[in-house]
Amino acid sequence: KIMHRIKGISNLEEALTNLLKVDKILIVPGNSDDNNLTLKDMGKVASMTLRKLIKEGSIIGVTGGTTMAHVAEEMPLGKVANDVLVIPARGGLGKEVETQSNSIAAKLAKKLDANYKLLHVPDNVDKVTLNAILNVPDVKEIIELIRDMDILIFGIGRADVMAKRRQLSKEKIDDIINKGAVAEAFGHYFNIEGKEVWESLTVGISLDTFQKIDNVIGVAGGEEKAEAIMAIASLRKNMTIITDEGAAKKIIKIA
Ligand code: BG6
Repeated sequence: KIMHRIKGISNLEEALTNLLKVDKILIVPGNSDDNNLTLKDMGKVASMTLRKLIKEGSIIGVTGGTTMAHVAEEMPLGKVANDVLVIPARGGLGKEVETQSNSIAAKLAKKLDANYKLLHVPDNVDKVTLNAILNVPDVKEIIELIRDMDILIFGIGRADVMAKRRQLSKEKIDDIINKGAVAEAFGHYFNIEGKEVWESLTVGISLDTFQKIDNVIGVAGGEEKAEAIMAIASLRKNMTIITDEGAAKKIIKIA
C-alpha cells in the first residue's frame, strides 16, 4: 500500500511538472489546508532542498509566512559551508514575530551556523517615508545584498488573503482583486498568467532581481493556494516548487 502511495506521488509530480512547466516539483502527501503535519513535511522537504544548494559564500534570501516558518523550524542543525549569509528578501510585515522574514532569516542562520542581517522596514509606508528609509546606510547595504542573492526560498500566498493580512484598505484590496490578482509572493501581486498587478510599498526584492537569481524555491501547499501556485509557476521555468497533494490535485483539476 505504501509503495502504491509513493508511485502515486511520483506520477503526480511528473504530471504537475509537465503542466506547470517548471524544472522541478516535489510533492508531499496530504493537504496542508486541513493538516498541520503536511505543512511540517513540506518544511522538511524544503529545508533539505535548500541545504543541498548551499555553498561557501552563499547569500540566501527568505520571506516570511507560516510556511517559511516551518522551513526554518524543520531545518536540521548543522553547518553546510563557510561564509553563508541569510537575509530577508523583503521588508517586515505583520505583528507576529515568529512569521516575519527577519525572524525566519535569523532562525535559519542559527540552524546553519551562518551569519544573518536584518531589514527593519515596515510594509505600507508612504512614498516619502520609503525614500527616506532607502537612504539609511543599513538598509542600503541589505538592498545590495538582496541583488546579490544566489538562493531565494519564498512562500506563495493568495492575493486576497495576503492583502488582508497586510491590512491594505478595502479600496486597495478591491482594486487588486478587480485587476485579477490571485497570487502574492515577496510583496508582489500577480494575475493567473503571472503578470504583475501591484507591488506593496516596501523595500526588497524586485521582479527583475527575481528573474536573475540562480536558484529559486517556492513553497506552498493546500487546495486553496492552487491558483496562486499556478500564477507563480509561470514567472520562470528555472524554479523548484515544493507543494502538497491537495494543491497538486486541485491544480490538475482546474488547469
Ligand atoms: C509572506 C511572503 O510572508 O508569506 C509571501 O512574503 C507569501 O510572499 C506569504 O505569499 C505566504 O504565507 P503563508 O502564511 O501562507 O505561508
